Amino acid sequence: MSVLTVMEGDMLAPAFARVQAEIDSAFDAFLPVPRDGRARLVEAMRHAAIGGGKRVRPLLLAATAELFAVSRTSAINAACAVEAIHCYSLIHDDLPCMDDDALRHGKPTVHKAFGEATAVLAGDSLHALAFDILTQPDTSSDPFCQAELVACLARASGHEGMAGGQMMDMAAEDAAYDIAQVTRLQQLKTGALLAASVEMGAILGRVPPEGRGPLRAYARDIGLAFQIADDLLDVEGDAALAGKALRKDEGQGKATFVTLMGADKARAQAELLARQAAGHLDGYGQEARLLQALARFIVERDH
Ligand code: IPE
Ligand code: IPE
Ligand code: MG
Ligand code: MG
Ligand code: MG
Repeated sequence: MSVLTVMEGDMLAPAFARVQAEIDSAFDAFLPVPRDGRARLVEAMRHAAIGGGKRVRPLLLAATAELFAVSRTSAINAACAVEAIHCYSLIHDDLPCMDDDALRHGKPTVHKAFGEATAVLAGDSLHALAFDILTQPDTSSDPFCQAELVACLARASGHEGMAGGQMMDMAAEDAAYDIAQVTRLQQLKTGALLAASVEMGAILGRVPPEGRGPLRAYARDIGLAFQIADDLLDVEGDAALAGKALRKDEGQGKATFVTLMGADKARAQAELLARQAAGHLDGYGQEARLLQALARFIVERDH
């Protein structure tokens, strides 16, 4: 399997480090701890949102925005909104009523550290924070652009996106899903937020919908590749590197690409999707190198 070339590796590591620091400091600024009965709620939100996670969605958004010379402040604010949705989805995903997990990002999950009721509220509040951020003038001074960002993220988060995919994922324990159904499930559960990250970069860049074809094709392919990689890591990964419990999907009897086609074919499929994703952006030339490197990272990652 191809590894990242030295040059791509060189550009990815600092790009990740930069966006990770920016997202941490943005959440820190958005989430001061109040000196009243809400302190525990905000501490729980900070526990989930600060100091963990690869920040793949923020980097996708920022790298897309960079193609269109969007200001860094706008891009990081929008990226923080997407990441707030992602962090909320993980808090709820880890709850005893869903995956019942004790470890996330190498730390106790929010319900383990703060209790279930606080974890539910911390998820709710991060969900709301995302849309608050998108309507702040620092994100965009244009109300039409704000509305488009809100509509895009809302659709990717709810029953037509992530939450819908989570519902299909729960049903996957009982239903005998085939490849087509697993593809649909994963496009919603994971693909929707990744695609929204790219789309929101293009929205900030004032790219009209009819000009977003190659970016949408790229996003669709990396979304699927990303979840295949997550499922492969569940089977083959190192839990210490992942910072979360692994080997869960099979025990829960969940159909994934790996259970349906076997690890080797699933890996080949993810690699093909990553190459195909990068190819969609060839028309952008050198400017798209970071997004192309990110496509390869998504399937070659070890966590
Ligand atoms: C994990 O997503 C959950 C899925 C959607 C598969 P990430 O692997 O992006 O999570 P972190 O935030 O980087 O840990
Ligand atoms: C979680 O998928 C996806 C969302 C939270 C939308 P998983 O349940 O596979 O994620 P991990 O493996 O717990 O990170
Ligand atoms: Mg889950
Ligand atoms: Mg889970
Ligand atoms: Mg998983």
